[in-house]
Amino acid sequence: MIRSVVRGNGAALPRRIMKNADFEGMVETSDEWIVQRTGIRQRHVAADDETTASLGEAAARAALDSAGLTPADIDLIVLATSTPNNTFPATAVEIQNRLGMHHGFAFDMQAVCSGFVYAVATADLYIRGGLAKRVLVIGSETFSRILDWNDRSTCVLFGDGAGAIVLEAEEGTGAIADRGVLAASLRSDGVHKDKLFVDGGPSTTGTVGHLRMEGREVFKHAVGMITDVIEATFGQAGITAGDLDWFVPHQANKRIIDASARKLGIAEEKVVVTVDLHGNTSAASVPLALSVAVADGRIKKGDLVLLEAMGGGFTWGAVLLRW
Ligand code: UT7
Repeated sequence: MIRSVVRGNGAALPRRIMKNADFEGMVETSDEWIVQRTGIRQRHVAADDETTASLGEAAARAALDSAGLTPADIDLIVLATSTPNNTFPATAVEIQNRLGMHHGFAFDMQAVCSGFVYAVATADLYIRGGLAKRVLVIGSETFSRILDWNDRSTCVLFGDGAGAIVLEAEEGTGAIADRGVLAASLRSDGVHKDKLFVDGGPSTTGTVGHLRMEGREVFKHAVGMITDVIEATFGQAGITAGDLDWFVPHQANKRIIDASARKLGIAEEKVVVTVDLHGNTSAASVPLALSVAVADGRIKKGDLVLLEAMGGGFTWGAVLLRW
C-alpha cells in the first residue's frame, strides 16, 4: 500500500520577539500570570513586511532544503491558515507563485488551530488516492493581525510563525512498522462556535474582525476532546500510549498539554512543548514544535509520533505517523 512519508521539514519565525513583560505597559497583566496560567514566556510578532505568505514560503523553502528537493518536485501545496493574506485567492496559491511553481495545484485549509492536523490527513488522502506524489503541507499564521490588543484575555496568548513538512508517496507493507501517516481522526462541532471565533468576515461585516474567546469554556472542553480523538486514533492503529516515541500536541496552554498527557498515560519526557517559545500560533504550532524537536535531535527517522490539535469551530483531531 501507498504511505505518505515525511521527507523533510522546516519552519520560519518573524524577526521580532515579544516577551511577556512587554505587555505590562499595554494591558493589566504580568509575566507571572501569563507563565502560571499558560506556560508562555514569549512569542514572535510579524512586522508589516512579514505575512502568512512570506512566512509560509520561508518554511516551505526550509522543508524543501531538508528534503533535498526543489519546487519542481512538488505537485500539491496544502496551506493550513485562518489568517490568509487576502480573502481570496488562497494564500497557498500565492506561496506556489512565490516558489516559482507553475504546475500542480494549491489550496488553503481552514480549521483554525486544528488546521495542520486536518491538512496532513487531507494530503495523505491525496497521496493515497493517487492525485499527488509529493505534497508540501504548511501551517502559517499571523494571528497578531486579528488580535484585539486591548483585550488582555486573548492578546497575550497568540503568536505568529510557520512550519512545513514534505510528504512523499512511498510503498509500505500496511503494517504499523511502516514509515508515514498510519492513522488519523478528525472531528468538528459547530455548536461551540461562539466560544472561539473572529467577529468579522466578508459575508457578514465586510471586515476582518478580531479574535474573541471564552478561554475558560474552551479549556473545559479541550482535554476531553483531545483525549477522545487520540484514543480513537490509537484504536485505528492498534497501539497504546506506551508505544509512542513522541507526543507533539497543539501548543495553546501548558496546563492543557500536561492534563491531556497525564490522562492518556503519556510520559512527560515524550511530550514536545514549545508554547513557552512561540505562544499559540494556531495552525503553525504543531509544525513549529516538530521543527524544534527534529532540530534538537529528539525526533528521529523511524520514531512513532502523535500529532494533536483542537481549536475554533470547535475542530479537533489527531494524526499518528512514523517519522
Ligand atoms: O488554540 C485554541 C484553543 N485555545 C485554548 O486552548 C485556550 C484555552 N483556555 C486557556 O488556555 C485558559 O482558559 C486561559 C489561559 C485563556 C485563561 O486561564 P484561566 O485559568 O482559565 O483563567 P480565567 O479565564 O478563569 O481568568 C482568571 C482571571 C480572571 O479574573 P477574575 O474574573 O478571576 O477576577 C481574568 O479576568 O484572570 C484574569 N485574566 C488575566 N489576568 C492577568 C485574564 N487574562 C489575564 C491576563 N493577565 N492576561
